[in-house]
Amino acid sequence: MVKVVVLGAAGELQHATRWIPLVVICVLTILRAGGIGQPLALLLKANPLVTELGLYDIVNTPGVAADLSHIATPAKVVGYLPPDEGLKKVLTGANVVVIPAGIPRKPGMTRDDLFKINAGIVRDLATGIAITAPKAFVLVISNPVNSTVPIVAEVFKKHGVFDPKKIFGVTTLDVVRASTFVSEILGDLGKAPSISVPVVGGHSGVTIVPLLSQSTVPLPSGFAKSDLEALVNRIQYGGDEVVKAKDGAGSATLSMAYAGAEFAAKVIKAIKGEKGIVAPTFVNLASDKASGDALKKEIGQDLEYFSAPVELGPEGVVFINPLGKLTDYEKTLVEAALPELAASIEKLGLIPIIFI
Ligand code: NAD
Ligand code: LMR
Repeated sequence: MVKVVVLGAAGELQHATRWIPLVVICVLTILRAGGIGQPLALLLKANPLVTELGLYDIVNTPGVAADLSHIATPAKVVGYLPPDEGLKKVLTGANVVVIPAGIPRKPGMTRDDLFKINAGIVRDLATGIAITAPKAFVLVISNPVNSTVPIVAEVFKKHGVFDPKKIFGVTTLDVVRASTFVSEILGDLGKAPSISVPVVGGHSGVTIVPLLSQSTVPLPSGFAKSDLEALVNRIQYGGDEVVKAKDGAGSATLSMAYAGAEFAAKVIKAIKGEKGIVAPTFVNLASDKASGDALKKEIGQDLEYFSAPVELGPEGVVFINPLGKLTDYEKTLVEAALPELAASIEKLGLIPIIFI
């Protein structure tokens, strides 16, 4: 049983059960049909483990909160706007914060093109979290994830509350796509939920590295190299496929909401003490020193951040899984990912500018 929490009431551990207020930063789009926030909030409201759902955006949250609050599930829903310390109010007592705030891509743009605007948005929200909910698990969806996650970390460092175990880049959508595309190749979408493919590296183009040789359901025997390359390319550029199809109306929202809710559900289970929770995510490799160092050795580079299947516990990262046995082709994919990944993290060279 999880008790319902009132924002502003004492959060953290209470009695024999853990209280789990869940705060979603930014839920909405009034100007555009779609957006991740609303469907994500709907899926989180449907999660029976969520006791409180807090919504924050620069527009419209009270209306969406009122709408969601009529759904017969345990979560109490509150919605705040920036005036009157809305950010502080929504964050009070939060132990999970999800950030899908920021602008999405249009055709022809890379995720890096979003950096200038989204870096500032994420910095400001991270500042609010560092001040009001410094112990919360922070789940960053806003792109470019390879850079926005380090930004959250830098803000937390600045405020003296940095815990690398609790800051996560949400890369679940890459894994969801890999499962779906493999099941399509097998001609059986019904298999998709049981297919798991580790996707490592980062969340952008060549930094997305699917390890298809480790798929829980193997590809058909005799699968041609050219077909394998096409599949890898589709997983790496799945986001572009959606951006192109939406033709100027944004990027993936519904599949992202599904993936975000899946990742948040795992985080909540881990916080509640469930054992053996493993989720793909982009983390600081210092979050678990021994396994992080082992992974650095495997990739042959001293990178600060990397995405991998990570075991989660009540205090965050417990263990970063190794890449394991790679095919020669997968080794070349990892090698190709490293320079771009390093450059995205290096964008932190801009931090002094961002932080003026
Ligand atoms: P959207 O424009 O539909 O929604 C973004 C929301 O952010 C808007 O409602 C806007 O009002 C809000 N916002 C802007 N500034 C804010 C602030 N300072 N505080 C609070 N809210 C603020 O965009 P979307 O389609 O929902 O995408 C959001 C982000 O998620 C984009 O950066 C996109 O690239 C990214 N994304 C990431 C993944 C992933 O796999 N990690 C997948 C899809 C999209
Ligand atoms: C995705 O992978 O769908 C997201 O990162 C959004 C995008 O810009 O492609």
